[in-house]
Amino acid sequence: MTSNTPPVCNYEGSEYQKDFWDEGGRAYEDAAEEIALKRLLPGVGNFMLELGAGAGRNTPRYKNFKRVALVDFSRTQLEQARDLLGLNQRYVFVAADIYRLPFVDGRFDGATMIRTLHHMADPVLALSQVRRVMASEGVFILEFANKRNLKAIGRYLLGRQAWSPFTEEPVEFADLNFDFHPRAVRRYLDQAGFEIAKQLTVSHFRVGFLKRRIPLKILTGLDALLQPTGALIQVSPSVFSKCIAVGDSGTAEEDHLFQCPVCGSLLPGGEMDQVCHECGRTWEYRDGIYDFRVDQK
Ligand SMILES: C[S@@+](CC[C@H](N)C(=O)[O-])C[C@H]1O[C@@H](n2cnc3c(N)ncnc32)[C@H](O)[C@@H]1O
Repeated sequence: MTSNTPPVCNYEGSEYQKDFWDEGGRAYEDAAEEIALKRLLPGVGNFMLELGAGAGRNTPRYKNFKRVALVDFSRTQLEQARDLLGLNQRYVFVAADIYRLPFVDGRFDGATMIRTLHHMADPVLALSQVRRVMASEGVFILEFANKRNLKAIGRYLLGRQAWSPFTEEPVEFADLNFDFHPRAVRRYLDQAGFEIAKQLTVSHFRVGFLKRRIPLKILTGLDALLQPTGALIQVSPSVFSKCIAVGDSGTAEEDHLFQCPVCGSLLPGGEMDQVCHECGRTWEYRDGIYDFRVDQK
């Protein structure tokens, strides 16, 4: 099992959904992401894992899947998601660290990670955890923030930005906020056991004055037209990749979902505290949310 995992960008108590999305003037980005997801999601699926689910903004978009497990390190984000989606058999709310996923191997046939790789100081470790819990041939949709975007290229060429958008190392522009180079992400995915099947570039017009002057429908329509150019070159601020889990996966125990994030032993499941009979830890279940956070960094 993993130990000494990287620090987490903590959203506990944050009003991210309200401040950034509901009142943050990002209707265009939200609509562009919805189009990209529609184009990449499989037509049908069993169990979807949403990594860094936040307040559940994207979760209703996974309607082709029978069940969805929402993972976020922040319990308060999950409480917002639970209040939005409701408590029912379709959703499983899990407070956990992506670097230490509390699920058995090979459990999910679908996964998404939207606007969350952005916070990963060790992307290969994070993606390897995702790969571990996915079934072979499962579909994983990864969004990443692209350091080689047109604005960064322009600023660099005009001498207004010190870092190069053309080199492969990530740029940490604020604490635990990373933009990645598309070639580097391809390498991370390969190392973790994923193959890119399709790539879309998204949010080409993420510029304040365009968003203010051009009607939302026209801007999203133009974005929809440009998204497929992502197959050739990626110079938009956001990139969506449809990835396939390649190679063998561990076989999911038929009736098991959870394993101890510390020692890896199977946990009983059911709507109750999860007691690990191997290492003796108890993982709390409260108000519809399982809590597998090893330490609350
Ligand atoms: C920018 S928000 C995106 C939320 C949602 N995917 C969306 O697009 O609306 C990033 C989310 O990732 C979560 N997060 C960051 N690091 C994490 C980690 N190591 N494990 C689990 N969740 C994490 C944060 O708590 C936050 O809710």
